[in-house]
Amino acid sequence: MLNADGRETLLEVRNLRVGFMRAGAREEVGLAVDGVDFSLERGKTLCLVGESGCGKSVAALQLLRLLPSPPAKILGGTAHFKGRDLGALSDRELNRIRGDRICMVFQDPMSSLNPVMRIGEQMSEGLRLHRGLSARAAGREAEAVLERVGMADPAGVAREFPHRLSGGMRQRVMIGMAVLPGPDLIIADEATTALDAVTGRRILDLLRSLTEGSGASLLFITHDLGIVSRIADDTAVMYAGRIVEYGPTDALLSRPAHPYTVGLLRSNPVNIMRNSYLPPGRSVAAPLRERRRRLAAIPGAVPGIWDRPPGCAFHPRCAFAAPRCREEDPPLRAADGTFSRCAAGAHSGDRP
Ligand SMILES: Nc1ncnc2c1ncn2[C@@H]1O[C@H](COP(=O)(O)OP(=O)(O)O)[C@@H](O)[C@H]1O
Ligand SMILES: [Mg+2]
Repeated sequence: MLNADGRETLLEVRNLRVGFMRAGAREEVGLAVDGVDFSLERGKTLCLVGESGCGKSVAALQLLRLLPSPPAKILGGTAHFKGRDLGALSDRELNRIRGDRICMVFQDPMSSLNPVMRIGEQMSEGLRLHRGLSARAAGREAEAVLERVGMADPAGVAREFPHRLSGGMRQRVMIGMAVLPGPDLIIADEATTALDAVTGRRILDLLRSLTEGSGASLLFITHDLGIVSRIADDTAVMYAGRIVEYGPTDALLSRPAHPYTVGLLRSNPVNIMRNSYLPPGRSVAAPLRERRRRLAAIPGAVPGIWDRPPGCAFHPRCAFAAPRCREEDPPLRAADGTFSRCAAGAHSGDRP
């Protein structure tokens, strides 16, 4: 599927809506994902960012129909992957895509690894299943991938059980397993959140170099806007089940329009301003780097799916809220280099 610029759109999500039924009251549904649209070009990285509870994981899991229903209730939307509607595929067809064309990396590798199986066996299993390789050929390929993810002793690691590895090494194994089939898309959900800062940064760089090297696209989910600057071409900021601002990462970080984006940046300025997350050759605009700001958390918390305020869901926490924000939730509109539901953050003269 080629877009207007002649580039290939790998993943196109339109008006995704997912709710959860209230326990014991199936007719009551709370919206966890409320009309989300995004698209991802081949070879690009898109970050979904927002505080915990904004609907990032639910959106990603629903793409691959991994949410048990009930309690999940799919209310609408489409996800086209390489032009095919994932929602219209049979379970069998979707299974062929999962773990082969689309691979996932989660926050906690221990929950995805089989504790009683050696690393090498787990890695080869998928290759034998999806590609019909012999045990020996699959073993060789697994070791080659362990080397690519930076293991000094790939053969030794292949013989280990998961609990014998450190958290960072386990996450390298997970990334190895995700890149092993040569997928078109990798979805990483908080893949570095459980790791210390230095290990997390190494893992991010690894993901970036592996996806760049293989031409795969990456959908990276995080609550940490600092990570975004290191890895994402485009960024979608989610709040209470909706995308509130969306655009090229550089524009979004240097000229944010939505007060929520501004708030996230302000509560996380150290990482971004010190450029500690920026890979060589990448930098954010000078105002962001130079103007020092104290660490200011956004007051309040993300509303749960049963407590969504009317109008703009962010208005109770927003320093710029006007009376009409209680009634209106405008669509995404072109702002200063991004698309945003609100531009009050841009006109405040008080951006990060
Ligand atoms: N199985 C479930 N049942 C009811 N509510 C859920 C379930 N899973 C997630 N939610 C709710 O959906 C919202 C979005 O969750 P999630 O996508 O996990 O957020 P994020 O990944 O952005 O932290 C949250 O309010 C969460 O409590
Ligand atoms: Mg999550």
